[in-house]
Amino acid sequence: MGDEDVSVDIEAENRGPAGAPKPHVIGIETSCDECAVAVVRGAPGEAEILANVVLSQIDLHQAYGGVVPEIAARAHGETIDRVTREALGAAGLGLDAITHVAATAGPGLLGGLLVGATFGRALAAARGLPFIPVNHLEAHVLSPRLSDKVAFPYCVALVSGGHAQFVAALGPGVYRRLGGTIDDAAGEAFDKTAKLLGLGYPGGPAVEAAAQSGDPKRFAFPAPLAKREGCDLSFAGLKTAVRLAAEATAPLTEQDIADICASFQDAVARHLTAKASRALEAFAALGEVPQALVAVGGVAANAVLREALATVAARHGLPFAAPPLALCGDNGAMIAYTAIEREAAGIAATAPRVRSRWPLDATAAPMIGAGKRGAKA
Ligand code: KG4
Ligand code: ZN
Repeated sequence: MGDEDVSVDIEAENRGPAGAPKPHVIGIETSCDECAVAVVRGAPGEAEILANVVLSQIDLHQAYGGVVPEIAARAHGETIDRVTREALGAAGLGLDAITHVAATAGPGLLGGLLVGATFGRALAAARGLPFIPVNHLEAHVLSPRLSDKVAFPYCVALVSGGHAQFVAALGPGVYRRLGGTIDDAAGEAFDKTAKLLGLGYPGGPAVEAAAQSGDPKRFAFPAPLAKREGCDLSFAGLKTAVRLAAEATAPLTEQDIADICASFQDAVARHLTAKASRALEAFAALGEVPQALVAVGGVAANAVLREALATVAARHGLPFAAPPLALCGDNGAMIAYTAIEREAAGIAATAPRVRSRWPLDATAAPMIGAGKRGAKA
């Protein structure tokens, strides 16, 4: 093959079909303990990630068994410029190629949000670019459109460190909450289970790893809210059941811990599958036909839960999608992509107001536990 067969016309890559420059968006995410910056190019349903740098602060928070807001905010302030430079370097671009700057403006920990949003706004102002504040939950919800080009409308299981809800994603900016947690977030249950069992932080990956050698049937943890109609979720009772089982079995061997983790994970899977089915029914009751069931957020990284939700989707004759692991946890690519979607739909917000609480569906009544002050707080 000659060179001309494999060479890429970079200028053409950077232009859309009509010859106009494609948006090249910097996405900044600092709502919790990941300092993340990405560069995404393109349009809704056909965007490419040019760089996606995630600097985790796990080491800084590990000793405390959870995220310490003040430490997180300081760390974001100390690293945000370096992470941004790294992302531009990885994308092979200078700031002159950037057309928009987006940053998470909520929900999350206020200190970190202020660092990211203020940095993004200043960067945009210095370059004369539009600044787009982004809702972190919307970014998770839209991430399967970035990773898997999922078409609207679709049904979302949003399960992260600070949230657990089912959402009907009907179009850009149009989301209906179908149900949500009445107490803890999904990731919180994993993190607290891990902490109780001495598995460290963050708990999700540790619990999943321990569960691999465990017996999911040894402890009969009931799936929560079995008798309740609708698709609300609950994790607090499960957390207590885990504690009681651990206390009754102590001193715990490694096998006991593995069995508790496997049984806990199994109960979460049964809970999510039962309620996901209900969520799909609630979706149909809106008069909409979902194109897919998707799982997003940090907990969607869990292979057992993905598998369980894929089974529900198949039972309803729907494709299942969940972003690759790098896009399940917090990242800047989903923030940049959300800006691309909103900009294209003509609904990009311009008021740079940072909000620790910012529900996705403003029409839904607030739920206890659903408006937590941010991820993993
Ligand atoms: O989306 P995310 O990175 O941050 C929030 O916006 O909350 O989610 C982090 C949460 C943590 O609670 C973490 O323990 C959980 O996701 N997580 C997992 C797994 N990986 C991360 N939970 C279960 N299984 C996993 N493999
Ligand atoms: Zn998140």
